Amino acid sequence: MPAPGENMKINGERLWDSLMEMAKIGPGVAGGNNRQTLTDEDSEGRHLFQDWCVAAGLTMGVDQMGNMFARREGTDPDALPVYVGSHLDTQPTGGKYDGVLGVLGGLEIIRTLNDLDIKTKHPIVVTNWTNEEGTRYAPAMLASGVFAGVHTQDWAYNIEDSEGLKFGDELARIGWRGDEEVGARKMHAFFELHIEQGPILEAEGKEIGVVTHGQGLSWVQVTVTGKDSHTGSTPMPMRKNAGLGMARMLELVDKIAWSHAPDAVGAAGHIEVFPNSRNVIPGKVVFTVDFRSPDLDTITDMETEFAVEAKQIAEEMGLGIEFEKVGGFDPVTFDEGCVSAVRNAAERLGYSHRNLISGAGHDACWINKTTPTAMVMCPCVDGLSHNEAEDISREWATAGADVLLHAVVETAGIVE
Ligand code: GLV
Ligand code: MN
Ligand code: MN
Repeated sequence: MPAPGENMKINGERLWDSLMEMAKIGPGVAGGNNRQTLTDEDSEGRHLFQDWCVAAGLTMGVDQMGNMFARREGTDPDALPVYVGSHLDTQPTGGKYDGVLGVLGGLEIIRTLNDLDIKTKHPIVVTNWTNEEGTRYAPAMLASGVFAGVHTQDWAYNIEDSEGLKFGDELARIGWRGDEEVGARKMHAFFELHIEQGPILEAEGKEIGVVTHGQGLSWVQVTVTGKDSHTGSTPMPMRKNAGLGMARMLELVDKIAWSHAPDAVGAAGHIEVFPNSRNVIPGKVVFTVDFRSPDLDTITDMETEFAVEAKQIAEEMGLGIEFEKVGGFDPVTFDEGCVSAVRNAAERLGYSHRNLISGAGHDACWINKTTPTAMVMCPCVDGLSHNEAEDISREWATAGADVLLHAVVETAGIVE
């Protein structure tokens, strides 16, 4: 099968315009986006994506988890499709590019193939995975996890958000619960384009990250219970301050992560304090500890150390404590063949590149369990992500989508 010529390029202006158009849906408070999963804004973004797909001649399929699959036919009816894509949902204070670049970059390669009248042997399918972010419904990468057989659909449907609304009900409410059986689709390969969300590419002046591995993650939700009481009149020795217990445990998370330097990281981004009133000593706190590392044993060690020492803190302070694992995945090694296709593409196009380990979780991490998978990354300014100020340049987005195009076309096979 011939390799694509090095002059085959996507339309960077059109990709950028689409990114800006999508960013108008679910605007944030500081220039980014709040398009959380299964909200009305999520639905609106999906409609826009669907309209663009139909205009590009694609056929849309939606599965029972709301995953969207837009298909461009290949010439061989027996060939499995090459899938591309990422997610359109965002963090509550998210950027315009996390996930969105991978979906609209996928659409842009289809538009380019249409413009150039290029046919491929394998079909190409552009995917939008539901609830990658895991903010409203933990865990992250929920629907790709069901697709890959890691979670059951029933379990996912019953997850509740902080207001007690169930995932399955909200999916139906916004009108995106499709008919397709989840995970029934078989793939030839999967490629995900994403911003790096870290500082390495920009610092080294590299245009492309060839993602060889992804670090693993553990989310443990901790509930600490004390006793609500008056902040003014409860004597110090009589207090059962769950908030203070949490403060000590957060120090512990940081200490444990540092003790496994340089690769391990840890923090608690989700914190709820009850009753959250200025003059009530918190009787209950709920927070989620996020530990990550490219090494599975390190993650397990960090989890164990935290559980042992946090229990000690609770005992010393007369507090109750419970742990619940609400998310996690093992470190990932991407497929050698797909990784080579990404590296070859960067080489052919003359883009500077280096290997990367992804610091964030991605739908590709789950799909890699069932299908040969790889990721392409482009730099982002100051490595900043999960922040409304998240930023990339048009040139970086274009380079990333060019590499995606070449890796996909090489894998899907050009028909002369
Ligand atoms: C997903 O966005 C994660 O890395 O938490
Ligand atoms: Mn993402
Ligand atoms: Mn994200």
